[in-house]
Amino acid sequence: MTKITAAITAVEGYVPDFVLSNEKLEQLVPTTSEWIETRTGIKERRILKGEGLGTSDMCVPAIQKLLEKRGISALEIDLVIVATVTPDYVFPATSNVLCDKIGATNAWGYDLGAACSGFLFALATGSQFIETGKCKKVLVVGADKMSSILDYTDRSTCIIFGDGAGVVLLEPNTEGYGVIDSILKVDGSGRKYLHQKAGGSVKPPTHETVDAREHFVFQDGQPVFKRAVAGMADVSAEIVEKNNLKPEDIAWLTPHQANKRIIDATAERLGLAPEKVMLNIERYGNTTAATLPLCLWDYEKKLKKGDNIILATFGAGFTWGAIYLKWAYNS
Ligand code: UT7
Repeated sequence: MTKITAAITAVEGYVPDFVLSNEKLEQLVPTTSEWIETRTGIKERRILKGEGLGTSDMCVPAIQKLLEKRGISALEIDLVIVATVTPDYVFPATSNVLCDKIGATNAWGYDLGAACSGFLFALATGSQFIETGKCKKVLVVGADKMSSILDYTDRSTCIIFGDGAGVVLLEPNTEGYGVIDSILKVDGSGRKYLHQKAGGSVKPPTHETVDAREHFVFQDGQPVFKRAVAGMADVSAEIVEKNNLKPEDIAWLTPHQANKRIIDATAERLGLAPEKVMLNIERYGNTTAATLPLCLWDYEKKLKKGDNIILATFGAGFTWGAIYLKWAYNS
């Protein structure tokens, strides 16, 4: 029987218009543009402005453009998976909201929470529905409105993150293109270094939790940085070795955009020249679940059918992993 793989057949993205530059942040917290750029690689990030707008409102335009580009109707979509840590509501799932907003009335869906590894985990799980023949068209979305959980008086976190959404369409392929392999990992003991203290069932919202600013992102940067450098480089090397790939076989590295120094360490470990590394952190910052699809969107025109791509992430949880993907089309 012919093996079915899950190929990415279209990619789209959306970033809000409002640009929050390093210079503007200098006016909010004691920092300098130079510190942010040299320590992280970030120059600016996008912020979703507007009363009543949530994560799904960035996904809708991205998905609508993708459907148009691929020439299909929302009615053909079987499944919508949304990776996010900033869902529109605690419940129902943002995927449910999205199915309604885009008119995907034949689809079912769910949200997946794996922080900065969310899109990678969603791509790996979404692929299974294609490979088993259960679904023919799966939308995998990575989207976060990080500005909704950032403390703009905390210089250690507010300088890093931005808002954005990216989406890919998965369809069956019988020529060997698409997701070839994945390695996914978690270590929940790392949760203390990067989390949101209140708002969940452990510490429901109260006046006290709001006053204590516990609904914002908390990060102890150094330990996360150390684990991220090792984790992302190790898992990337592991998937490359497992699939007998040499540096010259790899066309692109698509790394999570948390810190340019983490990205450089991963590229160096794989022996890849900077030209092979997708990078847009300088323009968008860390958009959490959206970084990988936004990279694929930005670089789509440069990608060629058959390109071997390594996607790699590290995020809160801890969660980390890598996917080996064979690109399925020329733009
Ligand atoms: O995507 C999810 C996973 N997250 C990550 O991968 C993020 C990993 N961590 C990082 O990227 C880095 O740890 C940060 C960018 C968050 C911080 O950079 P760092 O080089 O690790 O800085 P640090 O926390 O060790 O702080 C060094 C110094 C401190 O001052 P002292 O104690 O040496 O006087 C900080 O107070 O830099 C200070 N500092 C700042 N200075 C200017 C911290 N934040 C800032 C700031 N502007 N925004």
